[in-house]
Amino acid sequence: MMKGKPLIPLMAASLIGLAACEKSPQGKAEALQQAPTEPIVSVARWYSSAQVARGNALFQEHCATCHKPDASGSPNWREADAEGKLPPPPLNGTAHAWHHPLPVLRRTVRMGGVPLGGSMPGFADKLNSQQIDDILAWVQSHWPEEIYKAWDRMNKNGT
Ligand code: HEC
Repeated sequence: MMKGKPLIPLMAASLIGLAACEKSPQGKAEALQQAPTEPIVSVARWYSSAQVARGNALFQEHCATCHKPDASGSPNWREADAEGKLPPPPLNGTAHAWHHPLPVLRRTVRMGGVPLGGSMPGFADKLNSQQIDDILAWVQSHWPEEIYKAWDRMNKNGT
């Protein structure tokens, strides 16, 4: 008989606990509003739509054979072949390209990957700096807002 007794205060306590939670929906709404979620504010892009349009034509001419016309690259871009060479990675924001600030992206296109043991040819003798920027504008126009935002923050820090 005595065994059951302590249960009663416990149950009462948890009932009170539940009631306290459900009591003030207003308090709940306030707590949600104060949650530190980042507001979805778009970041201004560094390029114009004219650059994106010019970049599309240049990308199709110079880069699409390897990186695919939609910049989706190779699905197995992380896997080096027998010679240690990597396949052309996606440039559409799903892979690694967005970890590089603009000067590094420009240099990659100018110099290619060969100096670093890769296989991408350099374009310094085929494309001027404006054309390279146009291509990068088109590439970056594929990046979703969140990826572009993260890139923008890193690009401004210069790391
Ligand atoms: C012959 C194939 C080929 C062509 C053409 C080519 N690429 Fe690449 N690209 C690659 C490969 C392979 C890599 C990976 C690094 C390496 O092996 O050099 C790469 C890497 C890159 C990267 C670095 C991506 C990262 O995740 O760090 C960028 C940016 C890039 N290419 C842009 C371009 C642009 C822009 C063009 C056209 C102007 C171009 N590529 C043309 C094969 C190519």
